[in-house]
Amino acid sequence: MKKIIVAIDGYSACGKSTLAKQLAQYAHYTYIDTGAMYRAIALHVLRTLGTNYTEQDVVGLLPDCVVSFVHQDDKQLVCLNGEVVEEQIRTMEVGKVASEIAQIKEVRQVMVKNQQQMGEQKGIVMDGRDIGTVVFPQAELKIFLTASVEVRVQRRYDELLQKGVKTTMEAVKQDLLQRDFNDTHRAVDPLRKATDAIEVDNSNMTLEEQKMYVAKLFEQCVLK
Ligand code: DC
Repeated sequence: MKKIIVAIDGYSACGKSTLAKQLAQYAHYTYIDTGAMYRAIALHVLRTLGTNYTEQDVVGLLPDCVVSFVHQDDKQLVCLNGEVVEEQIRTMEVGKVASEIAQIKEVRQVMVKNQQQMGEQKGIVMDGRDIGTVVFPQAELKIFLTASVEVRVQRRYDELLQKGVKTTMEAVKQDLLQRDFNDTHRAVDPLRKATDAIEVDNSNMTLEEQKMYVAKLFEQCVLK
């Protein structure tokens, strides 16, 4: 059966990674979380410069930042200079810095090149903000995932709560809205739906319904 590239884009906390993992498991494909790559750079920035940095400082750090993945226990774990940082990158602080540094042209150039190399052999499901528009405009299957703000806030809040992070729904909402703004208004590669992407609103879908739905899209695509 032919191997394809699946590109999944959408706003923060829509459940992109859950969907991408479901599909990767179904198709026996490799899952790449590109948000984790921006977060790894953000972690390096925080560790090296703290919260006081300029765009130039961040660009200067890029040559010292190698972002890669290791496969462990059926999962792809993100590494920063060889160190697995999957847990360290999942904080709100790292997410905030990731959203800021993702606006820098040079950061995006390095990330996009790295991501394109990962997809050379196809057989991947990649999620992010610019996968169907910039990284793989030729992807055979593009999904643009959406969900209502209320549903997204609740999901992100539950996720943080589970990790023991103390926050409020209002703080989560403000953080999400700020990220939506950053993602859609940045000058370089802003988040937008590719003209040939299929929009999926999962606000009222169960995980099983979502899985069945995208599995069908995938089958239609590989059999074409
Ligand atoms: O999906 P996430 O929240 O883990 O992503 C972290 C940040 O990285 C988010 O604010 C947007 C940015 N990002 C991006 O600009 N392009 C991507 N392909 C993936 C993430």
